[in-house]
Amino acid sequence: MTTEVLKQHLIDPEICIRCNTCEDTCPVDAITHDSRNYVVDADICNHCMACISPCPTGSIDNWRTVLRVAAYPTADQLTWDELPKEIPLADLPVDAVALLDNNGGGELQTNAADVSLGSVVAPASASQPTVNLHGIKNFISATVSGNFRVTQLGTESDTHHIVLDFGSANFPVLEGQSLGIIPPGVDAQGRAHHARQYSIANPRDGERPGYNNVSLTVKRVTTDYDGKPVRGVASNYVCDLKKGDVVQVIGPFGSTFLMPNSAPSHILMICTGTGSAPMRAMTERRRRLRLAGRDNAGKLMLFFGARSQQELPYFGPLMNLPKDFIDINFAFSRAVNQPKRYVQDVMRERTDEVAKLLKDDNTHIYVCGLKGMEAGVLDALRDTAVTNGLDWLALHQIFRREGRLHLETY
Ligand code: A2P
Repeated sequence: MTTEVLKQHLIDPEICIRCNTCEDTCPVDAITHDSRNYVVDADICNHCMACISPCPTGSIDNWRTVLRVAAYPTADQLTWDELPKEIPLADLPVDAVALLDNNGGGELQTNAADVSLGSVVAPASASQPTVNLHGIKNFISATVSGNFRVTQLGTESDTHHIVLDFGSANFPVLEGQSLGIIPPGVDAQGRAHHARQYSIANPRDGERPGYNNVSLTVKRVTTDYDGKPVRGVASNYVCDLKKGDVVQVIGPFGSTFLMPNSAPSHILMICTGTGSAPMRAMTERRRRLRLAGRDNAGKLMLFFGARSQQELPYFGPLMNLPKDFIDINFAFSRAVNQPKRYVQDVMRERTDEVAKLLKDDNTHIYVCGLKGMEAGVLDALRDTAVTNGLDWLALHQIFRREGRLHLETY
């Protein structure tokens, strides 16, 4: 009887930034996590590869040759600080090695079940991003050059605009990319905190044009998903940073949620709360191009949801943008004496304009914010398409395939 050999799919805990993309993407629910690690259940994983390309860090793309009976259990993976070493072939039974040889080294099939609702490729005209320049072992230090609250004082949403300066170090970014911040100290088990991922809120030429700096939009986490009080380790650390503090940064990450460079390209942006960071980056890129006389001529349309005007990050600066530059639509869910409105409700109110964009091959759609909004926004896009005589099933596939529908929710 031949001993069954498995190329076991594993996630590198040293690089993983716990963004949950893999768990969201996995079509068979093989990926789970605890407060520490993301892990893959070898009994469930069918090597469909759907999770590989959406992972921003590449931590998902790790494999170890093991006997199936000796596959690493998820309980073990949850305790790891690093991946186990590859078992030398000489230590595998002879018939297992023979099987590997016959299989051409046990290569995996890459019949990716393409299950993501959004694009897993960048827009055709996007610039080439730099990714994974700095990891946990070669993090880069950045100095805080600003920390400003961008929601009104006295409201529950304590959201900050943080500016980090890289000095003379190399950290090139594109709009839509993210970075990781490693909070100092250790967790309750005495292990170093893992990095947290934040979207970059500035365009490619810096938060301040020509400066080697980036900005982030970070909300202080004070409750968990069920509303129970918690103190978010990284968000509190970041929101409390002072000018001159030095932070450990990894990245940049992200090779698909990128803006198009072609002209004209229409950008339909839909976000809630801190999901506004990449939208700010893209909008500011286009604003600077316009100022420089290089107007893209494509439309910008924004749907932005928050609890109230006072809790909407960057409300003031957004109001100063010219009406002929960007079409801004707010959705407030807890405004006093007003009905609760979500972004998808306001999209429905602007169905004619959204339909025009859906019909145009130059349109690129970006959705960023709370997980819950994703289904609601896709429903609103579908309803708009259908009521305007468009075949949403076909159109959705075209948008996805052409890198023109990007979903980043958490
Ligand atoms: P809600 O008042 O129901 O929480 P937050 O302030 O928590 O970051 O949320 C930003 C905005 O997103 C809030 O207005 C919130 O409304 C809204 N929101 C919550 N769930 C959804 C959803 N499923 N679809 C769209 N927006 C949502």
